[in-house]
Amino acid sequence: MNSTRHTVGLYPGSFDPITLGHEDIARRALRVADRLVVGVAHTSTHIKRGLFSVQERVGLIREVLDDEERIEVRAFEGLLVDFARREGANLVVRGLRAVSDFEYELQMAQMNQELWPDIETIFLVPEVRYSFISSSLVREVATLGGDISSFVSPSVLARIQEKLGTG
Ligand code: PNS
Repeated sequence: MNSTRHTVGLYPGSFDPITLGHEDIARRALRVADRLVVGVAHTSTHIKRGLFSVQERVGLIREVLDDEERIEVRAFEGLLVDFARREGANLVVRGLRAVSDFEYELQMAQMNQELWPDIETIFLVPEVRYSFISSSLVREVATLGGDISSFVSPSVLARIQEKLGTG
C-alpha cells in the first residue's frame, strides 16, 4: 500500500448558485481526497438560463467554503477531462441525490472514462435534508418570490436577492 499517495479530487458543476447540498458534497469529498478543486464549468451540458456569471459563481463558492483550506475554486472552459489533467486530479466527485440523477451521471462518467481512461468518478450522497435541492429549482423558486433561505448559505441568499432586486 502506498501511504504517501496524494489524491486530488475535482468537483465539477455549474453551481448556479452553489446550494447547501453542493457545500455538503464538497466537505464530504475531503474525506476521500487530500485536496479538492471545485471546477465551475463555462460549458454545462444541461444549464439553460443562468443567474450568475461564472466569475460570480466562483466568488460565491470561495466565500462559503472559505473555512476549508484544502479546497480551491477555479473556473474552466472546455472538456472536464482536460481541466482535470491540468490540475493533476484523477478523481471526479459528483453528488447523487436520487435514482433520477443516475442515468445522466453514469453517461458522463463513462464518456469521461472514454476520453481519459485514468480518470475515476465517485458519487457521494448528500445528507437527506438536501436531497431535493437543485440549483435550477432554487433559481426558479427565488425568481417567483419563494423562500430559499433553507437551501443556500446566507451570503448566497443575499447575492440572489440583490441580483433579483428582492428581499
Ligand atoms: O452541475 P451540472 O450542470 O450538472 O454539471 C455538468 C458538468 C459541468 C459537470 C458537465 O456539463 C461538464 O463536465 N461540462 C464540461 C464540458 C465537458 O467535458 N463535457 C463532456 C462531459 S461528459
